Amino acid sequence: MMKLSKTYIEGMYILKDEKPRLVTQNKTPGKAVYGEQLINVEGVEYRTWDPYRSKFAAAYLSGMKQLPQIFDEKILYLGVSTGTTASHFSDILDKGLIYGIEFSPKVMRKFFRLSEQRTNLVPILADARKPEEYSKFIFSVDLIYQDVAQPDQATIFGRNANEFLKQGGKGVLAIKSQSIDVSLEPEEVFSNQMKELEDKFSLSILEFSTIDTFEKKHAIIVIEKA
Ligand SMILES: C[S@@+](CC[C@H](N)C(=O)[O-])C[C@H]1O[C@@H](n2cnc3c(N)ncnc32)[C@H](O)[C@@H]1O
Repeated sequence: MMKLSKTYIEGMYILKDEKPRLVTQNKTPGKAVYGEQLINVEGVEYRTWDPYRSKFAAAYLSGMKQLPQIFDEKILYLGVSTGTTASHFSDILDKGLIYGIEFSPKVMRKFFRLSEQRTNLVPILADARKPEEYSKFIFSVDLIYQDVAQPDQATIFGRNANEFLKQGGKGVLAIKSQSIDVSLEPEEVFSNQMKELEDKFSLSILEFSTIDTFEKKHAIIVIEKA
């Protein structure tokens, strides 16, 4: 029999079936977003959350203990792409919303269509390196989530945290070491990125973990703005 249990992140559940899977309750029943499975448990539909497609799910399953809550938050999502991870945040959100920043028009068209079905998604076609391009749409946010695979990942995150993250706000930053420097060991790249977040942008590191089981040479950093 299928059994649903809570995780420490409100709205993210573990469905214990033949093999345990992460799920969120589908806000648009009958509709999948990226080919994930839809599963009915006692008359309520859930969507499986694939850790090979979403680094937030990978971070949870890699044992991270300090991932932030999503439930009531105003979230700035840098590199939202077509909305794979954002769709699960959208499922979880109660009163909050997600500003999704993406600079590829082709990708953004798909996210825009998703936002027509999910009213807590706000699509913004812009370059995350230029917060001034979208500062007129956003005042302050509780959480920044970033997944952009660029050489200057910490700098992009730091600038956006300076501009938009409220005092006491949290951030989750996915680091792809191969986009930064292929000649260095990933551990050195991760450590340089954390140093920049702390020294240049005065952000505190709450937790760090690689997510090698799901994505090679990637890490997740959870920060707080003091
Ligand atoms: C790895 S994908 C993100 C996947 C997504 N986070 C998810 O889990 O569903 C990275 C995305 O960031 C976008 N991106 C990269 N650099 C960017 C920038 N400077 N500004 C905005 N978007 C950017 C890319 O176009 C791509 O869609």
